[in-house]
Amino acid sequence: MSSPTNRRPARKAVIPVAGMGTRFLPATKAVPKELLPVVDRPALQYIVEESARAGLAEVLMVTGRGKAAIEDFFDRTPELEAALEKKGDQARIDAVAESTDVAQVHFVRQGEAKGLGHAVLQAASFVGDEPFAVLLGDDLIDARDLLLEQMLAVQAEHGGCVVALLDVGADNIDKYGCVAVDDAPQTGAGDADQVVAITGMVEKPKKEEAPSSLAIIGRYVLAPEIFDAIRSTPPGRGGEIQLTDAILALLEQGVPVHGVVFSGRRYDTGDKLDYLKAVVRLAVERDDLGPALRPWLRSFVGDLPPEGASQA
Ligand code: UTP
Repeated sequence: MSSPTNRRPARKAVIPVAGMGTRFLPATKAVPKELLPVVDRPALQYIVEESARAGLAEVLMVTGRGKAAIEDFFDRTPELEAALEKKGDQARIDAVAESTDVAQVHFVRQGEAKGLGHAVLQAASFVGDEPFAVLLGDDLIDARDLLLEQMLAVQAEHGGCVVALLDVGADNIDKYGCVAVDDAPQTGAGDADQVVAITGMVEKPKKEEAPSSLAIIGRYVLAPEIFDAIRSTPPGRGGEIQLTDAILALLEQGVPVHGVVFSGRRYDTGDKLDYLKAVVRLAVERDDLGPALRPWLRSFVGDLPPEGASQA
């Protein structure tokens, strides 16, 4: 087997979308959270586009029960296209085709939602013996921020695994996987986001026990050794097989693990407040909607009572 530090660059992406989405109930009783529209397209479409932009146009989605609509979304829709063609609506034909043409999308089912590590393990035969990226299906990175590209460059340089990090502040770190880092940060391949060598990881630590305020967010570039590590990872927090536990096992075996500290715009679309922020922000910046939305938003905000005042 080739060494984890001496391989060709990643070409494939895995997008786990089998989670239950309990934070977004009741909407997610019938609609997968990954399909909730952010302006006019599902969160998941932005993520597939991000993957393709970074050169990973072969994508495996790990789905589960109640997620069939995701397969439909990435399938062709000849009846719809024919109806639009009859109307001569080329703009909408293009919009519909965009969702299917952007990448080659494959599917595998997780069977039971036994955690992110278990979801990633379902991709073992698709991935084979090469590094690959994991993009969480509800974690949206602004298209102008080239996080995944930078992570792929770091992985090509150092080998091993690379995780995306965000400084969430000491008060919020107990909701995330947290990393300990080498205190001598390394500089990245010319980009603004800082690259750090990771020395430890702990899932959802108490504030006073957290080694840093750097949280792992939903982008990973992993060495294929991760699959054996997941197979030997017992269920952790919440009875789930945690991906961070398996990455930590590799780290302890001497596999290099780096972090890219992201400084751009990121939205957790599985969280109601973050979802709302994503919709407003992206809509405001759109050429078709922004000019009408911005003045309305300004006047709406101007009419809001100050925080703490009682609502009419
Ligand atoms: P989350 O931690 O957001 O979990 O998963 P969740 O169950 O989907 O959502 P909540 O917390 O109940 O609202 C992060 C990503 O990992 C996937 C999810 O679909 C999401 O994209 N996932 C999680 C799986 O594919 N399988 C799992 O067993 C767990």
